[in-house]
Amino acid sequence: MKTIFFKIALFIFLLGPTLKAQKYQPSPVNLEARTWFQDARFGLFVHWGVYSILGDGEWVMNNQNISIEEYEKLPNFFNPIDYDPKEWVAMVKEAGMKYITITSRHHDGFSMFDSKMTDYNIVDSTPYGKDIIKALAEECHKQGIKLFFYYSLLDWNRDDYFPRGRTGNGITGRGEGSWENYIDFMKGQLKELLTQYGEIGGIWFDGHWDQKEWDGKMFRKSKVDWHYDEIYAMIHELQPQSLIGNNHHIGVIDGEDFQMFEKDLPGKNTTGFGTPEDQIGSVPLEVCETINGSWGFNLQDRKHKTQKELIHYLIRAAGYGSNLLLNVGPMPNGKIQPKHKASLKAMGNWLNQNGLTIYGTRRGPIPPSDDFVSTRKGKKVYLHILNSDLKVFHIDKFPLRIKSVVDLKTKIKLNYRNDSFGFAIDITKLPKDDIDTIIEIELR
Ligand code: GLC
Repeated sequence: MKTIFFKIALFIFLLGPTLKAQKYQPSPVNLEARTWFQDARFGLFVHWGVYSILGDGEWVMNNQNISIEEYEKLPNFFNPIDYDPKEWVAMVKEAGMKYITITSRHHDGFSMFDSKMTDYNIVDSTPYGKDIIKALAEECHKQGIKLFFYYSLLDWNRDDYFPRGRTGNGITGRGEGSWENYIDFMKGQLKELLTQYGEIGGIWFDGHWDQKEWDGKMFRKSKVDWHYDEIYAMIHELQPQSLIGNNHHIGVIDGEDFQMFEKDLPGKNTTGFGTPEDQIGSVPLEVCETINGSWGFNLQDRKHKTQKELIHYLIRAAGYGSNLLLNVGPMPNGKIQPKHKASLKAMGNWLNQNGLTIYGTRRGPIPPSDDFVSTRKGKKVYLHILNSDLKVFHIDKFPLRIKSVVDLKTKIKLNYRNDSFGFAIDITKLPKDDIDTIIEIELR
């Protein structure tokens, strides 16, 4: 008898989390938005805030241990008179990007939008006095670009962000407030973001990891309750098509619509915080990366990636079935660095020629490697050869039936064999493109 009880109890215990995990049913418009998102493949990330003035990245408050009192002087100097959202959106379109994700509030706690929840915002606390998000939203709607909001869960300014997390502990002037008030504050702000700016593509959360505790092996468990169930439900209720993603570096939490990977391709871990391969969900994926080495404007960052590196990253991301969200950190005057603009333009030029092998594709059947990746759209598989020195293309197996294999640019037919020996394409005589030689494999 006892064992039966025990078994039933165990069954319920094991089933509990499963039932909970399957609570969220995305609405039809949400599913449609996910498809749009996957087809889009390329977006612009924008890190802009009062930190930009100091030209030392968005973590400057933490990294330089600037006290709250000192940091709060910054909004007085924020006056981006050269900010031209029309120009930004035009630049985005020229780059072949389909959406923008902008920091509405970063870890420093300053709101870059008009918020009634606090005066510590761009309209009430800067000489500029205008809502840059509103102007951007209007321009995005006009020019057919979707707008997403980055929103920090972590806050180095507010007393109510208490208990504090692992970061910002050298910042003096932080008080001890109430976590529940902090949750209410965030809910209020998210409501503003979802009601003041028309249709919003999604919300991009960040900072969850600040509260993760060391469990002896890794930072895994959150020591606070983020109330994601209520927050996510509210977002989906206000704007059902709005996609929720959270840069928590763990598997998808119930209610999330896409999964992001920071500075790493899905499943890779060069950063030390990459999401493990077994935690990649079945939702759309997005990789985010910096155009140089910083998110926020950094005056002395000279690690600008080359145009070739950037185009390769976009192709590789697509080969992993993922979007690329490429970041720029506008300067305090509202301009984007000319070098970065030039790189974006080069990406757009490449996409003008080759976009059909990226947009609307899904991960291809050829497993990605350092030398090549593949994408697929319907009956076409695009093999992207990224190493122009590659002499032989050979893999163990190609699982689908082939109709033809041609060089996409010249339409020249290529010899291949696909048998017990494996799948090989004769690329010896093929003139290689320095950036990407694309081979089109048509399926039967
Ligand atoms: C990290 C950083 C943050 C940046 C984000 C972008 O989480 O804390 O500054 O906004 O990555 O992916």
